[in-house]
Amino acid sequence: MRVLVTGGAGFIGANFVHWTRAHRPDVEVVVLDALTYAADGSSLGSARDEVELVHGDIADNALVDRLVKDADQVFHFAAETHNDNSLADPSPFVHTNVVGTFSLLEAVRRHGVRLHHVSTDEVYGDLELDDPARFTEATPYNPSSPYSATKAGSDLLVRAWVRSFGISATISNCSNNYGPYQHVEKFIPRQITNVIDGIAPKLYGDGLNVRDWIHVDDHNAAVWTIAEKGRSGETYLIGADGEQTNRDVVSAVLRELGQPEDAYELVRDRPGHDRRYAIDSSKLRGELGWRPTYADFSSGLRATIAWYRDNQDWWRPQKAATEAKYAQLNQ
Ligand code: NAD
Ligand code: DAU
Repeated sequence: MRVLVTGGAGFIGANFVHWTRAHRPDVEVVVLDALTYAADGSSLGSARDEVELVHGDIADNALVDRLVKDADQVFHFAAETHNDNSLADPSPFVHTNVVGTFSLLEAVRRHGVRLHHVSTDEVYGDLELDDPARFTEATPYNPSSPYSATKAGSDLLVRAWVRSFGISATISNCSNNYGPYQHVEKFIPRQITNVIDGIAPKLYGDGLNVRDWIHVDDHNAAVWTIAEKGRSGETYLIGADGEQTNRDVVSAVLRELGQPEDAYELVRDRPGHDRRYAIDSSKLRGELGWRPTYADFSSGLRATIAWYRDNQDWWRPQKAATEAKYAQLNQ
């Protein structure tokens, strides 16, 4: 089996390549990645010798056509992914997330190749802190940011291509991932690397926003489960019951690194900041039998903190520029 992995040099995509080599050793992997600021070829590590890494844009129709034609399955991770960046400049988000997904859809349609589209719980908007509800596959779409709006648009394109053109495709919407190789612009790596550098972690607003954390390996195991056992046209929500306030996450990072747990700073809030995400993953668990292996967020977080402490060569080149960008926003 030959799979095309878009965005395979990014955080989740690179971990997906490692997961695939460990659990599906017979699968041949081709990565298509534009190698934007968010990518790092070194995240592929030893896999670099065994996977083909094609440097290119998912919106390049001719290139995408050639790569899709030779694949049995496409795993579509490539995207612009950071909400704060989408508020500063939405344009690359529309290009990659909407136009890029369109280009892939046309190619899988021409060549009859199955697609798994990787998406986010942010398409559903947010929940109140005191609302007992969680997102399900039936929750109406209500995205808040340019990032989540373009991801919502891409999901709807996939659904339309299944219904109107009969392509074979599955969709997953996952909650917040953590683990190795995540860019230092994102919340958990930013705060771990701040504390390592003696900088106070920065919490937006009152720090009480809630995210539903899942380890990246559990996300990737679920993606394989859905691609292998899921029904075409169906959406599956992926989550590991990992709701935490941002303040609790930062306090846990501070504690683990030997600092007082309230040594954080409250900074300017993100405009349109979603209050809470929470996933009900009963459909995935009940129909396809998936279960997370990192049931305990604190042990997964501890392992992630250790990874950033031990792999400073990987993140240091990005750190100063990332913090300079945040400083301009007073964040
Ligand atoms: P990331 O930003 O770390 O990586 C994205 C990758 O896509 C990078 O390697 C980048 O170079 C590549 N890319 C960007 N534009 C491209 C283009 N035009 N052509 C080819 N490649 C391009 O992102 P991530 O956090 O690994 O997210 C991967 C996917 O998972 C995204 O679709 C995202 O929406 C989804 N997702 C992420 C999370 C999360 O918590 N990070 C949660 C749910 C879903
Ligand atoms: O829910 C899935 C989504 O999770 C993915 O689709 C996105 O690609 C991914 O970036 C993530 O989006 P968030 O906006 O939730 O993640 P981020 O890491 O940017 O922020 C997590 C929370 O922490 C959010 O409430 C904002 C807050 N935050 C973030 C940063 C960077 C802070 O308080 N301080 C910070 O410095």
